[in-house]
Amino acid sequence: MSEPSAPFRAPVGTHDVLEPASAVWEGMVAIFAERAYRYGFTLAITPVFEDVGVFVRGIGEQSEMFRNEMYVFSDRADRRYALRPEGTAPVVRAFVQHHMASPWKCWYFAPSFRYERPQKGRYRQHHQLGVEVLGTDDPAVDVEVIALLHGFFRDIGLSQVRLLINSMGHRACRARYVELLSNYLEEHQAELRDEHRELWRQNPLRLLDCKDPACVEVTSRAPMLIDHLCEACRSHFDQVLAGLSAIGVKSVLSPRLVRGFDYYNRTTFEFTSDALEGAQNAIGGGGRYDQLAEELGGPPASGIGFGSGVERILLAREAEGIDAPLLKRTLDVFVIDTTGDESVAALVEALRDDGFATDRAYDQRSMKAQMKAANKSGARVALLVGPDELGAGEVAIRDLRSADFETAQRRVARADVVSALEDLLAR
Ligand code: HAM
Repeated sequence: MSEPSAPFRAPVGTHDVLEPASAVWEGMVAIFAERAYRYGFTLAITPVFEDVGVFVRGIGEQSEMFRNEMYVFSDRADRRYALRPEGTAPVVRAFVQHHMASPWKCWYFAPSFRYERPQKGRYRQHHQLGVEVLGTDDPAVDVEVIALLHGFFRDIGLSQVRLLINSMGHRACRARYVELLSNYLEEHQAELRDEHRELWRQNPLRLLDCKDPACVEVTSRAPMLIDHLCEACRSHFDQVLAGLSAIGVKSVLSPRLVRGFDYYNRTTFEFTSDALEGAQNAIGGGGRYDQLAEELGGPPASGIGFGSGVERILLAREAEGIDAPLLKRTLDVFVIDTTGDESVAALVEALRDDGFATDRAYDQRSMKAQMKAANKSGARVALLVGPDELGAGEVAIRDLRSADFETAQRRVARADVVSALEDLLAR
């Protein structure tokens, strides 16, 4: 006989979401869906894996970094796939593939996979709530997308949230700026630590969000892209800022905000939580990308969107001390039956059809055991059927929240169960 093996555990960097936390997740998704719906977004569900080329486009240094974090595998026919590390590229791939009419506004709830060093707020499987809008570069859309996420955070009770915003310009602005920044860094390279000197040669922009004190010191005096935007990009950004302030969404201009993907241009933004620690305090981020559709083989189409990590949002809620449930998920009725009669099973089913959250005991347990289960279930009302009630075509109805036995329980005819329940539950 072989030794029994140790029980399996969820893979490193992943989590099971079970009750009671799962009800908070369910509420969060429902609230996000409702808000997205109010802004005219529809749900998009794309595969969890895609052709690896959907995520690795070009040979940029950022693509390289990203490639190292991806779960890549070959199937039996030797096709190369990657588990989705983020939600944007698959949605743009779907937009191109299905020739969706512009503007296309969609939302998603997507597990995303990154081979990172797991720590609090950073996981190998995380879940993003996000939106993308494709087919328009109207700055009003930038405002709308940011307002949606801002409103969602308010809906779920977060208050210590900060919106950081920047513009990356378009390709030509950025190319001009990178040259300017490179020249500046060349002059100041002696002030950088050795390993960071390499970093800026690969990608000078990366140095802007480097937390190393020497880098911070040097870049604090460096030219900023925001001051070197072309007229069109500057005007776009000004309209976004004006639009946000017109609807009362406060933002902090953050010229050093550099987002981790190379598809961004023009507006980029991040929501951070002041209640969380620095390294993992981004609870949502996004921006505009105007080349991605073409890079994925489609016609030119501007896009903008964001992704917001559910795990991080929950950490932020916890850190702010918010524990209000987002969703009512309690049982209405628990049916206690000692007869095993089929008519009772039919009653349970009918109650569920009528909209009552109803549970019951199994395995023909004793009255006492079933009563205990009813109390434990959190249901507000118990319905009891014993031989007596069955014979009389009645059920006993009992308010489980009342301590007074005399008034808590009474008998009603089967035909009157629904109205009696409605009465009790409304109280
Ligand atoms: P991102 O900033 O990489 O952007 O991720 C979006 C959000 O997902 C982050 O702000 C964070 O809340 C959460 N997140 C990211 N990585 C992890 C992780 N390892 N563990 C836990 N949470 C994480 C994107 O993914 C872009 N697709 C956003 C976007 C949409 N841009 C345009 N449209």
